Amino acid sequence: MAEAAVLTHGRARATALAARYYTDPEIYEREKRAIHFRTWQYACHQSEIAQPGDYVAFDICGQGLFALRDREGAIRVFHNVCMHRGHELVEGSGNARVLRCPYHAWAYELDGRLRAAPHAEKVPGFDTSTICLTGAKVEVLCGFVFVNLDSEAKPMGDWYPELEHQLRAYVPAIDSLRPVLTNAVPEACNWKVSVENYNECYHCRVTHPTFSTGVVDPNAYDIRPQGHCLRHTTVAANLERMTYPVDLTASDHAGQYSSWFLWPGFSFQVYPGSLLNTYLWRPDGVGHVDVYRTWYTAEGAPSGTIERLARQDLDTTVAEDVRIVNAVQRGLGNIGYRPGPLVVDPNFGVNSEHSIRTLIDWTLEALGES
Ligand code: FES
Ligand SMILES: [Fe+2]
Repeated sequence: MAEAAVLTHGRARATALAARYYTDPEIYEREKRAIHFRTWQYACHQSEIAQPGDYVAFDICGQGLFALRDREGAIRVFHNVCMHRGHELVEGSGNARVLRCPYHAWAYELDGRLRAAPHAEKVPGFDTSTICLTGAKVEVLCGFVFVNLDSEAKPMGDWYPELEHQLRAYVPAIDSLRPVLTNAVPEACNWKVSVENYNECYHCRVTHPTFSTGVVDPNAYDIRPQGHCLRHTTVAANLERMTYPVDLTASDHAGQYSSWFLWPGFSFQVYPGSLLNTYLWRPDGVGHVDVYRTWYTAEGAPSGTIERLARQDLDTTVAEDVRIVNAVQRGLGNIGYRPGPLVVDPNFGVNSEHSIRTLIDWTLEALGES
């Protein structure tokens, strides 16, 4: 009993999720509606749609969408579908004065209203003013555009309290940042395997020698829930052993590391020296997720340090994690697997898996199974 009490930390669940949550296509379909279409999802960076008419298409679990800058300069996100007979409206990125459907040339204003439908004037009672593209809720946080497909969704400030002012404290120059490079990393695992792996450092010392000695100090690593955010903090590795030059004047927190994981699939991560990079998880079926690692510099200026750091990150931490998550997915498909107890330390700390329990709680709550 005593052991169980410690493990559960006052709550009933302290084992890993059953394997079917990572392998069953039917559960994945439920998650799409219960989680991915009801939570805040990254769309693009505002600098990618800087001018009126600029657009960029993207996809959330098979839902085609595009972000757009309208004539007044506002950022909008629409479902990428024509209201006539359903053709997709745009592909990739570009600039448009009007959005013209490639199928029968219906034309939409940049605010989504139908402007013209060829030959419709011959149709008695055809009223173009009643037709409009389907929009989604948008918020812009420090230049990062987020979308929520649930029209009733609470604002990001409710989901992720304290996020904006903490981010600004760690990255004072955040408004000037532009994405400079993105590495797309396909992983052959369920999105939760990858997200759970990202959100615990119990495995850091075993599998991430470069990150644990040349970037951060794993002994000080801590993860705390903050709304539906998991806030990671630690300090820089011994400065003499850092693998890149750290500008300690960049901010009051330049000697620290922090990340903010925004459930279910995005993370702002600040390396010592106030260097911002992000993780984006895009699930693609029950057993696959694409992870995008993006790096930023002020005004998008080239930076040898960022290029080297991004390369190092890809070759060490990311490659090490890909091997882990792919092996876990294979293991979860093994009929010999029984979900094991989580190592939940009541005092948190680097070797505790309390954050995994939190992620499991959020998933089960969303699925109505808690
Ligand atoms: S489906 Fe778009 S104009 Fe017909
Ligand atoms: Fe890892």
